[in-house]
Amino acid sequence: MNGIASRMDRFEESASARASQIARDLAAAGRDILTLTTGEPDFPTPEHVKRAAIEAMRREETKYTNISGTPALKAAVAAKFRRENGLDYRADQILIGAGAKQVIFNAMMATLEPGDEVLVPLPYYVSYMDIARLAEGIPVPVACAPGNGFRMRADDLAAAITPRTRWLILNSPANPTGAVYSADELRAFAAVLARHPRVWVLADDIYEHILFDGAKFATFAEAAPEMFERTLTVNGVSKAYAMTGWRIGYGGGPKHLIKAMAKVQSQVTHAPSSIGQAAAIAALEGPQELVAERSHLFQQRRDFTAAALNKIPGISAHLPQGAFYMFPCCAGVLGRRTPDGQVIASDKDFAHYLLAAEGVAVMDGAAYGLSPYFRISIASSIEVLGEACTRIERACAALK
Ligand SMILES: Cc1ncc(COP(=O)(O)O)c(C=O)c1O
Repeated sequence: MNGIASRMDRFEESASARASQIARDLAAAGRDILTLTTGEPDFPTPEHVKRAAIEAMRREETKYTNISGTPALKAAVAAKFRRENGLDYRADQILIGAGAKQVIFNAMMATLEPGDEVLVPLPYYVSYMDIARLAEGIPVPVACAPGNGFRMRADDLAAAITPRTRWLILNSPANPTGAVYSADELRAFAAVLARHPRVWVLADDIYEHILFDGAKFATFAEAAPEMFERTLTVNGVSKAYAMTGWRIGYGGGPKHLIKAMAKVQSQVTHAPSSIGQAAAIAALEGPQELVAERSHLFQQRRDFTAAALNKIPGISAHLPQGAFYMFPCCAGVLGRRTPDGQVIASDKDFAHYLLAAEGVAVMDGAAYGLSPYFRISIASSIEVLGEACTRIERACAALK
């Protein structure tokens, strides 16, 4: 009995936040560390966005806003949904949260009864699992075959649904694999869900704008309009506009769901920062060229990193179609020994070894539910990625 609630044992702290903190601590202690664990663009927030925030402060927009967000930002979000996704959400069908993460949290808190199941394609963004647990739900991973580009098939979905299933979470482009679902695949999921009216879909579109090789983005409610009333479309400005620290995400969904989510938010944060909301308007309404330019840069980094990793014996990397992560397999190094005699028995051991031997911080695949893989964020310069791959190659060559 240490005064900490038993609910705290049900979920974990964010693994990537923890790994990034370890890397930062080592760097602060003087170690030469390359941190490839963080899920945020290395680019600056665009100047016009920063200017909009400063102007908002000067206008004294520094007070509490409406719980579900400012009318001006909701209008910008509604226009974005219409323009980019062909989705028509009214103001009372939109909630602005402190990041997409809070929108997801609000949704799970507002809807899950104890024991309700949340289907999460595996490998997954780990917060889906922990947020579902925190809200007393049961996250149910749905394995996605690497041979199918880590994409769930309609049959996988059908087999995973039970009478307790409440949500299916879709994330495309996906963290950590970069998998992208086509509109046809989404329609096949909708055909399965037509037989299960209790199941809602949370479409996490946060990586919408980071797409490679001409891949086309599709979101669930757009591909399957008949599912509009059962879909929460989640997005935000963090990844597209390099605004992770501004903490603005948003969701569009049926009015009664949005109302319940706003009730949760009213007791957690009241509303996100007024300044962040003003900045998000500028991001959504301002020039969009930067978004495509940066996506192109991510694609160059992906190509560079994949080529470098695939030259390393024991490592094999597939080409993600979007987002800014690589998710290489490290099966070929398992069972080998480090120079000081430790056996690399798992991807966790491999990630530890890379950090200890060469100062390269990566995430182990186990954190995303799939071994033996590891995740590298490619949101770093080509120089940093090149140096990281050189070090990974040297670390692998030193294994016996
Ligand atoms: C798949 C996915 N969804 C949501 C988020 C959270 O984004 P936000 O910064 O808007 O809370 C992340 C962040 O890493 C993510 O990878």
